[in-house]
Amino acid sequence: MIKLKRMLIAAAMLAMSAMPGMAGSVKSPNGNLELTFNINQGCAMYSLTYKGKDVVKPSRLGLELAKDKHASKGMEETDLMDHFTIKDEKVTSFDETWQPVWGETKDIRNHYNEYTVTLEQQLEKKHYPKDPNTKGMWVEPQIRVIIIRFRVYDDGIGFRYEFPQQQELNYFLIKDEHTEFAMAGDHTAWWLPGDYDTQEQETQETRLSEIRGRMKEAVNWDNSSVAVFSPTGVQTSLQMRTDDGLYINIHEAACLDYATMHLELVDAQTKALSTKLGGGSNACTPNPKPSPYPLPAPLTFISHLTPDATGLKGAMQTPCETPWRTVMVSDDARDMLASNLILNLNEPCKIEDTSWIHPTKYCGVWWEMIVGKSNWHYTDDFPSIRLDQIDWNSVKPHGRHAANNEKVKRYIDFAAKNGLDEVLVEGWNVGWEDWANHWKRDVFDFVTPYPDFDIKMLNDYAHSKGVKILMHHETSSSTQNYERHIKEAYELMNKYGYDAVKTGYVGDIIPRGDHHYSQSMNNHYLYVIREAAKHHIMVNSHEATRPTGLCRTYPNLVGGESARGTEYEAFGGNRPDHTCILPFTRLQGGPMDYTPGIFETQLSTWSKNTSWVRTTLAGQLALYVTMYSPLQMAADLPENYERFDDAFQFIRDVACDWDDSKYLEAEPADYITVARKAKGTDNWFIGGKCDENGHQSVIKLDFLDKGKKYDCTIYADAKDAHYEKNPKAYVITKKVVKAGDTLKITEAAGGGFAISLLAK
Ligand code: NOJ
Ligand code: CA
Repeated sequence: MIKLKRMLIAAAMLAMSAMPGMAGSVKSPNGNLELTFNINQGCAMYSLTYKGKDVVKPSRLGLELAKDKHASKGMEETDLMDHFTIKDEKVTSFDETWQPVWGETKDIRNHYNEYTVTLEQQLEKKHYPKDPNTKGMWVEPQIRVIIIRFRVYDDGIGFRYEFPQQQELNYFLIKDEHTEFAMAGDHTAWWLPGDYDTQEQETQETRLSEIRGRMKEAVNWDNSSVAVFSPTGVQTSLQMRTDDGLYINIHEAACLDYATMHLELVDAQTKALSTKLGGGSNACTPNPKPSPYPLPAPLTFISHLTPDATGLKGAMQTPCETPWRTVMVSDDARDMLASNLILNLNEPCKIEDTSWIHPTKYCGVWWEMIVGKSNWHYTDDFPSIRLDQIDWNSVKPHGRHAANNEKVKRYIDFAAKNGLDEVLVEGWNVGWEDWANHWKRDVFDFVTPYPDFDIKMLNDYAHSKGVKILMHHETSSSTQNYERHIKEAYELMNKYGYDAVKTGYVGDIIPRGDHHYSQSMNNHYLYVIREAAKHHIMVNSHEATRPTGLCRTYPNLVGGESARGTEYEAFGGNRPDHTCILPFTRLQGGPMDYTPGIFETQLSTWSKNTSWVRTTLAGQLALYVTMYSPLQMAADLPENYERFDDAFQFIRDVACDWDDSKYLEAEPADYITVARKAKGTDNWFIGGKCDENGHQSVIKLDFLDKGKKYDCTIYADAKDAHYEKNPKAYVITKKVVKAGDTLKITEAAGGGFAISLLAK
């Protein structure tokens, strides 16, 4: 992390409103965005414009606090919602360029103007006599201080609440955060149902006013843990498009020691319901209760935090702060994908020696289990198991256990032959016989292999071929069990030379009542990342909370799932536009372990599974470039790659760490075309992916080095390719190209293309 430039500019030099003490405003460095803050009848309000157009109309800021059941604990229950005055305002500017450990570009510029407002809340504190028999209560003035910090970038804003340590605000419980985002119109939105436990849903495309009507059919209730909370609740990152061509994206950055935020839309029906109930912002929840705070206008989102098992949303100790609430905006959809806003709002890297963190291409003993041909578990002998009561060497194997020595060796050989770095092996450890959905606390110990998995031999074998085995820790969401075993589990990894772990959180959280995205669970995921870093282990977390850019601070967090991944192609399929929306939404916070590369799209050709993959084979290749991740899986079976070895060449060649990235074409849920320059080389790779309507891509190669020639290999859909009717029809063309040339490529319905440009 090298700071190139840092400057502090006197408040007077930047645009600030002429009414100190009442309001302030600040523009982005290029002047396109303008953030305005003011106090209106004691309430903190902000608004945002882009090139003069409303992005966020005047919206309220604040937090509702909860009373602790033991008043003696001194919890502060007075809400942080009103009675505010401005005590201090500051405008500064910041400009630095930093280098991520891995990423889409070599350098990232962090350039913003910052408006920091210190607010005083003036209240009356009620004192009650200690002796309940004594009558009388007296009041005295109470002053509390909070800070709201806004950072205004060229591509969006981030703002957060900060709570300095003070006598009158020491410990507090959060009932909910009431940050509003008042939209200026009935925008088109790409959304997932707001849910405390899962993001593994299909993205919905509707107008804001249509969210309520779509909610029921938007939820896949079959997921292993579903907790939808409101007919108008949606998740972040939420991508929108306005009728006059603005792209707006709401998300959060640096969610640390805090609950994950959802958004709850106030629509016309919410308003009608609240009028009946007597008003209030809680009126849009399934069990509406009147709230003391007036409901904002329809088409306003209100933040909705994930509760923990107590139903409350956060336990805080000052000094502390909330995550950044972010609003990205541009009139060019490509800027949504190129934005580094979320990473920039996170703290610099906290891991001193990062030499052990590396981009990784891997295959795995995985897809055949997901498809249902083989199993994670070893025996069918028992209706249930207790880990400490089974002699695994004497149980009868059912013969379908995938993580066996012979098979793992075959995958290691395949990885070695094709230049893949690691082999994921799932189902290697005892406990899979009754692993999910039984509220079973002691579900795995993470150190005992099944008898047919020789951990030493297999790791030695892999290392002798320059390959590593990638560890798998399914926790079944029994989080305390994982924390209890984590040290031994990571020591075992160190002993045998594993340097990466895929974790998993299938099922409802144990202890019961907690949710995947609560403050306590977010602290658990962070604990795992930090412990892993101590052991030089990279983490790829499945079913964990959606990312908010923490990979800048902890770059050993190399991947995550937190969305509907390729596994769903075996559970009924992902829609063809699925991967044309994920980079706008899920990927904003960090890379996804999407596990692409399924070449045999008809699963019934080799298994009893009748599901099929909703892309062409060329479209699968595109994902290695369009779905940015430093961790990329070649997810299909080796035998399927051997059948299409000429196409597999692209997976062998493609990089997964980059010096530069150029988003060439993009429209949410329609198409994405991106060119990336492989780290430390002059080679470029281009990927284009489109939805069910196909796409005509025109690529001007003006980003190539002038004067250089490139061997260009194009992996494209054949003329008659189609994701359903003819998915495996592809054409490979080779030519020599140079800067200034143009490539025209037709993408089939549900198709795509991949191009390698190797400098001569
Ligand atoms: C769900 C994960 O997403 C998948 O990749 C994994 O194989 C299973 N859980 C089992 O842990
Ligand atoms: Ca999953």
